[in-house]
Amino acid sequence: MLVTKVAEPKDTPTVEKVEFWEGLYQRNITPWELGTFSPPFKTFLESPYKVPPGKIASLGCGTGHDALLFANYGFEVTAFDFAPSAIAATKAKFEQSGLLGKSAFVIQQDIFDLHQFNGKFDYVLEHTCFCAIHPARRKTYEFVVRDLLKPDGKLIALWWLLDRQGSGPPFSVSKSELFDLFSTDFRFDIVHEPTDSVPDRKGQELFTVMSRH
Ligand SMILES: C[S@@+](CC[C@H](N)C(=O)[O-])C[C@H]1O[C@@H](n2cnc3c(N)ncnc32)[C@H](O)[C@@H]1O
Repeated sequence: MLVTKVAEPKDTPTVEKVEFWEGLYQRNITPWELGTFSPPFKTFLESPYKVPPGKIASLGCGTGHDALLFANYGFEVTAFDFAPSAIAATKAKFEQSGLLGKSAFVIQQDIFDLHQFNGKFDYVLEHTCFCAIHPARRKTYEFVVRDLLKPDGKLIALWWLLDRQGSGPPFSVSKSELFDLFSTDFRFDIVHEPTDSVPDRKGQELFTVMSRH
């Protein structure tokens, strides 16, 4: 008798696993992919409120559009992601721009295992990584960001404020949760509802810059 093995739930990679994300890249299921940097980041970098270039860690960098934008504005960027396809795409962009290994670096690693980089960055860049991780890990994510930063470092973030029923990713994110989660270790310097979000996210984004206390 031919017995077909049916995947048990325990065989299904969960959102914490690299296999989950790499599987999406392999199957071209990347609905978060904008094909370019997110406009509010460029607006910020050209605004009077911009921050001086420094060392920035891009967490869950995906295919690297935002990381490349910051590199093009003079930042020294280290782009972290655990999915090989994401890292390969980011590396290719950095290589093409001539910045790879000079002011743009890629590291394939789990963002919850970055202890060796603690205190090394002036800035952390967040864009749809927070809503991609399991909500149970959000406080740990806040600790990761805090610990990566130098004492006066800043988190530059574009949050996707989603109210979703059912399971993610992306998982629901609310403004009040962000304030609750980050206020213990961070001061909110800029809180801004962008007017130049991509059409699908209009009215659903929040741009913040926070400083470590
Ligand atoms: C929704 S995508 C966002 C990508 C990119 N930031 C963007 O906005 O286009 C989330 C990314 O985070 C990565 N990721 C999720 N959990 C991770 C983890 N624990 N460590 C490293 N990367 C992670 C995934 O591989 C994926 O590339």
